[in-house]
Amino acid sequence: MGSSGYFETAVLAVKEAGKIHKKYFNQKFEINTKGTPFDLVTVADIEAEKKIVEVIRGYFPEHNFLGEENNYDKTDSEYKWIIDPLDGTNNFAHSLPIFCVSIALAKNDKLLLGVIYDPLREELFYAEKNKGAFLNGQKISVSNIDKLAGSLLITGFYYDRGKDMMETLDKIRQFLQLNITGVRRLGSAALDLCYVACGRASGFWEYVLSPWDFAAGKLIVEEAGGNVTGRFGETVLLEKSYIVASNGKIHKDMLDVLK
Ligand code: IPD
Ligand code: CA
Ligand code: CA
Repeated sequence: MGSSGYFETAVLAVKEAGKIHKKYFNQKFEINTKGTPFDLVTVADIEAEKKIVEVIRGYFPEHNFLGEENNYDKTDSEYKWIIDPLDGTNNFAHSLPIFCVSIALAKNDKLLLGVIYDPLREELFYAEKNKGAFLNGQKISVSNIDKLAGSLLITGFYYDRGKDMMETLDKIRQFLQLNITGVRRLGSAALDLCYVACGRASGFWEYVLSPWDFAAGKLIVEEAGGNVTGRFGETVLLEKSYIVASNGKIHKDMLDVLK
């Protein structure tokens, strides 16, 4: 283990969660809804979060936890683990193989590390503050494209069917008219951010994301040389946020469309 053991613990936890994903993926299981009929939760979400917290608490019992599927008693610790036990639940529920687990660690709300694991492709993305970003041990960096024309963008939709969704559809139209190569909607914000970090896409935006969706991915994009802001270029805090992530070179052009 490294001196703190934080990174190794996060890797252990995402691998355990990945085993749970694989156990249930493509099987029959109960699917429940949360706030809206489109916001799903499965036994895999619940079981994975329970396991992740159990693994991390085994090493750091005094730390705080912010998880999507459960509430945790607050402690005096300045450390907080931010956990999305299964990002891409709608895909998972439909046996569509695009999902992952995402874990970040923050100290006094500053991100120290982010680890995202796609168990089907066995892709482990990770970054520690000021140490670069990696995919399965290889250093990754954002794409070199410096204009919107020719770039591939990813977007996502929150679970509403209202004004913000309509606006996103309009932004897709605007981007396409600027001759981008295409827009993708993959269904896992954490993987979307990893794909910007490793250059598979040049930009990503989504109008409502929760800290567990973006915390780890934000650090991974930044450590890969990219940029993550709100839609007006503002700093993103660890709260519900509009997220714009890019390779940095097309960031201003993306903001010009999204603002
Ligand atoms: C969702 C996914 C999706 C994004 C939604 C998120 P979940 O997370 O990241 O891509 O569009 O806004 O809530 O519910 O699958 O963990
Ligand atoms: Ca999520
Ligand atoms: Ca989730």
